[in-house]
Amino acid sequence: MDISLPDLLPSHQKTQPIYTSRLTLRPFQWTDLPNFYKLRITPEVMQWTSQGGIDTSIEQTREWMQKFIEDTDMTPGEIPRRNFNFVVSLRTDNVEKSANESENNDSNAFIGVCGLYGLDSLPVSPIPSLGYMYIPESWGKGYATEASLGFQAEWQRLITLGHQVHSIPVGSRQDMYSLRAVTHVKNLASAQILRKCGWTVYEEVEEDGMLLLRWIVDTSATATP
Ligand SMILES: CC(C)(COP(=O)(O)OP(=O)(O)OC[C@H]1O[C@@H](n2cnc3c(N)ncnc32)[C@H](O)[C@@H]1OP(=O)(O)O)[C@@H](O)C(=O)NCCC(=O)NCCS
Repeated sequence: MDISLPDLLPSHQKTQPIYTSRLTLRPFQWTDLPNFYKLRITPEVMQWTSQGGIDTSIEQTREWMQKFIEDTDMTPGEIPRRNFNFVVSLRTDNVEKSANESENNDSNAFIGVCGLYGLDSLPVSPIPSLGYMYIPESWGKGYATEASLGFQAEWQRLITLGHQVHSIPVGSRQDMYSLRAVTHVKNLASAQILRKCGWTVYEEVEEDGMLLLRWIVDTSATATP
């Protein structure tokens, strides 16, 4: 039997949150729309995305979200999982309670998104791609690095579990632990995050006049953060 990545992953509905010391990564919900809209109309956040610029309406943000939430409405097994993407928020269970309650609500805890936007990136590569973006107010505190490490550790755990559940012999396991990422050569912060998380550059390419770095990591070597 041919086992593909989506077979090894839980459905959107059964996906459990990932916890790191300061962050929670959880599946998308429609109530995230206003936060995503705010994120995606911020030029300095969107400049490095493949879209290259901000969303021009909340409808465009809704369409983008749809790709990461649509299988919630489907009968399980009807369509294979096409993403493994998470909302990232600050943990509220271990932060000091704000003097002002409204400052401590879920909307203020939202800081961004981290995950796989294509589980099957063919024809470019059979290896899924990691992406992330965060609100500028959260930058410079190590959150992106912490979320990526938490994500990589969870990926390692799920792939190992999937291999066991499906009794896939070691010799016939595909390289499902590997992930790839792409950065613009000028995006030094993102390159620094990937280096700190164990990634290496395997290719430098020019696409549409932009110089890009292609990265790869073997998550079986990621230590639990
Ligand atoms: C890039 C981004 C994810 C960084 O988030 P963050 O939470 O600030 O990241 P972290 O704090 O975990 O780590 C950033 C690292 O980059 C370093 N850095 C930041 N700006 C830098 C720069 N101009 N040059 C070199 N290093 C830089 C920081 O010093 C830090 O490294 P350190 O911990 O070794 O000091 C965030 O700025 C963002 O969302 N940008 C817009 C979207 C984006 O670029 N996404 C990635 C697309 S590939």
